[in-house]
Amino acid sequence: MTLSPADGPATATALVWDWPLRVFHWALVLAVAGSFATHYAGMEWFDWHRRCGYVAAVLIGFRLAWGFVGPRYSRFSSFLRGPRAVIEHLRGRQPYPKAGHNPVGAVSVLVFLASLALQTGTGLFANDEIANAGPFYGWVTQETSNRLTGLHDLNSTALIVLIAMHLAAIAWYDGRRRLGLVRAFWTGRKAGVEGIRASRGGLALVIVVALIVALTLAIRAAPEASVNVYF
Ligand code: HEM
Ligand code: HEM
Repeated sequence: MTLSPADGPATATALVWDWPLRVFHWALVLAVAGSFATHYAGMEWFDWHRRCGYVAAVLIGFRLAWGFVGPRYSRFSSFLRGPRAVIEHLRGRQPYPKAGHNPVGAVSVLVFLASLALQTGTGLFANDEIANAGPFYGWVTQETSNRLTGLHDLNSTALIVLIAMHLAAIAWYDGRRRLGLVRAFWTGRKAGVEGIRASRGGLALVIVVALIVALTLAIRAAPEASVNVYF
């Protein structure tokens, strides 16, 4: 295809979001949606609730590690700023960064990850007082498990609020301000910015395999325990 002068200059795009971060995000969407769906589908879906939850747990573990060893824009140090930067951003005194999370988005990323870590962490110890329990139920007393189940329940509501806010924020930035966030988070690329050199995919795979092995070993090591509050 030949370009006519009316097409304007071709804009070079650079890789901003590494592929492990993008796979993490879209896999997380499926795992979290699956965890909610399998809970609401009924008790007989609990095995699938557990499996979706394990996937979410490994993904969150990966993201926390990736915040320290991932490429530039995935690192916490590249986007977490102090409260002053957040206030300046809210007052519109700071230009929107062309690549990476903005200071307010960065806070929401952290809150999101903390809530997801709490959700998967408490799920591992939770029980339904009838038949189903997380794999680490045998490591705690019934009372502690009940408390953690309460947190699992409460935090699931917080998560729904966070997801709704997340979608509203993305719709605002992409719909009204046309920042192209979803497209960038899908393709990984943005125009006119300084990109990263590589995605560090090999390192990401090593981390994920290590997390799967650690979770499997911990589940195997946990004492067998059946839920028998009422029977
Ligand atoms: C992002 C991941 C997860 C989400 C969104 C999620 C969501 C939920 C929700 C909404 C409930 C119902 C709370 C209630 O009304 O009492 C629930 C219950 C439960 N979840 Fe999860 N969960 C997740 C991960 C996990 C994990 C990793 C496990 C561990 C295997 C787990 C085990 C349980 C158990 C044992 C219950 C209690 C059963 C019940 O009340 O039906 N969950 N979860
Ligand atoms: C269960 C639903 C969802 C969860 C739990 C979730 C979670 C997250 C998290 C944790 C991040 C931060 C990424 C990072 O670690 O650096 C993020 C970013 C992002 N998410 Fe989602 N997400 C969900 C659904 C969606 C959907 C449906 C879309 C698009 C339609 C979307 C678009 C984005 C975009 C564009 C970003 C990057 C924002 C930016 O450039 O600062 N998310 N999401």
